Amino acid sequence: MIDPTSNNHLPPVPQRVESERLVIRPSTRADGRYLQKWWNDPNVTAPAGNVAGMQYDDTDMEEWFCRYVDDRETFTHFVICLRNPKERPIGEFYIASDDRPGCVGLALIIGETGLWGQGYARETLRSYAAALFDSDLCAAIRLDMRRDNARAIRMCEHVGFEVEHIWANGQFQTMILTPEALHLKHATAAAG
Ligand SMILES: CC(C)(COP(=O)(O)OP(=O)(O)OC[C@H]1O[C@@H](n2cnc3c(N)ncnc32)[C@H](O)[C@@H]1OP(=O)(O)O)[C@@H](O)C(=O)NCCC(=O)NCCS
Repeated sequence: MIDPTSNNHLPPVPQRVESERLVIRPSTRADGRYLQKWWNDPNVTAPAGNVAGMQYDDTDMEEWFCRYVDDRETFTHFVICLRNPKERPIGEFYIASDDRPGCVGLALIIGETGLWGQGYARETLRSYAAALFDSDLCAAIRLDMRRDNARAIRMCEHVGFEVEHIWANGQFQTMILTPEALHLKHATAAAG
């Protein structure tokens, strides 16, 4: 189905993706309490540069749901859930830019800080990137991050992202993933 809100007339980005331990699905109003907690947690937002949390109040949340969730047929904001019967939400990501067939830009958090370092972000990006590249309608994925965000950089390197560009006087970098780099990294990891 073509997303009527998209200006590139391509099919929507993948809407539901499952991996070994995770389910990625569109964000819903029922996820509000998780999203608000994560976005307002300075521990989650500080590595990306927002040291005081995003301070979303209930009105901000309502407006966010009106913009990105209500009355939409296809979605660009997704929740990452553990793949168990309760599908507990642990993080979220969104399509920050969609310039297919060239590139899709993403931004991602694992909101449950107690679950950091267990490979959940890596698994999210690997599985979503594979689904996105499967369409043959997306040549690359880009992520921007602070250059002192060592955890995010390490996680991206594991998936196969490479530094494309350093900017803002050396404070930020853009990392890029191509289908070839994703497959090469996967093959190398599988070979041990
Ligand atoms: C960045 C973030 C998404 C990573 O999530 P995660 O599920 O912990 O990531 P993973 O477990 O897949 O990978 C983290 C990697 O960083 C490593 N790491 C952990 N602490 C680290 C540190 N202080 N310095 C360097 N690397 C570190 C981990 O060991 C792991 O690498 P490994 O697989 O070689 O062991 C998560 O920490 C987060 O939400 N941070 C706040 C928001 C943010 O920075 N978003 C990214 C913007 S692009």
